Amino acid sequence: MVYDVISILDFSRNEIMQLFDLTDKIRQILPKRRKIPILSGYTAALAFFEPSTRTRLSFELACKKLGMDTLTIIGESAISLMKGERFSDTIRMLDSYSDLILIRHPADGASRFAAEVAESPVINCGDGAHEHPTQALIDLYTIHKFKGNINNLTIGILGDVRFARTVVSLLRGLTLFDPKKVYIISPPFLHLRDVYRDELKKRGLNFEEKDSLLDVLPELDVLYVVRIQKERFPDPSDYEKVKGSYMVTHKIIKEYAKDDLIILHPLPRVEELALDIDNTKYAKYFDQAKFGIYVRIALITLIFGVQDKIS
Ligand code: NCD
Repeated sequence: MVYDVISILDFSRNEIMQLFDLTDKIRQILPKRRKIPILSGYTAALAFFEPSTRTRLSFELACKKLGMDTLTIIGESAISLMKGERFSDTIRMLDSYSDLILIRHPADGASRFAAEVAESPVINCGDGAHEHPTQALIDLYTIHKFKGNINNLTIGILGDVRFARTVVSLLRGLTLFDPKKVYIISPPFLHLRDVYRDELKKRGLNFEEKDSLLDVLPELDVLYVVRIQKERFPDPSDYEKVKGSYMVTHKIIKEYAKDDLIILHPLPRVEELALDIDNTKYAKYFDQAKFGIYVRIALITLIFGVQDKIS
């Protein structure tokens, strides 16, 4: 199993399936037992230099369910980086205080750099517009649970595929499986970056880029929606140009989608996914958020190699 989790491509398909089996097991045990304290005495440091709700809370809860202590730093202003401390010094300090480092950072590559400095395992909880591998594990698990597999499905990914790191990780993750077809749907300005388009081609993913959801909606088994990543726009006036350029509503889903379509979203949602979908059978994004806790418990368990202690 992996040690550092920087990219979804740090995993093989088999390792992902092993993680899913353990996640299933944990989902069965936890409601009854409340805690599985197989890592008590260990400490996790959560270093979140960018806003986060679900990722931080679910990782913190996952650590606590395993019996770990947690240390948290939030925002650059809360720590000495504001005083000019080097990032590498901050990581060295966290490394000496903890056994696991969970890091979210606005710069692409920050987690890889942290992993090079730290001896403890490092989990990338989102680095700039690069990757968010644990979100992709959750996304893949959700698809697997609701559809029974990941292969042979037609999957649409809609939104800001240019800046959304969850999309990069999910697309890379899908290359480890054999989906029937992946449609990458975005307004022109928010197209996939060339480097990822080339990589996906090389890795043999069967994908096509589209600019209209309606063209492909009737074919989809899964629709994954992401918000426009406003904070990543180099020029705020560009954001104004694309703001509100796509929105999924219950009306279009009812009219065009397959009856058993499932809709996923890593959240937070802004205006790309109408609230009237929430209480329909299509909406799986709240289940997806909940699965996050279990997937993260399973991941930490496997990193520490203590899966045999779960019974
Ligand atoms: C995502 C992120 O931070 O990249 N959120 C999350 O972790 N669930 C998605 C987003 O911010 O749009």
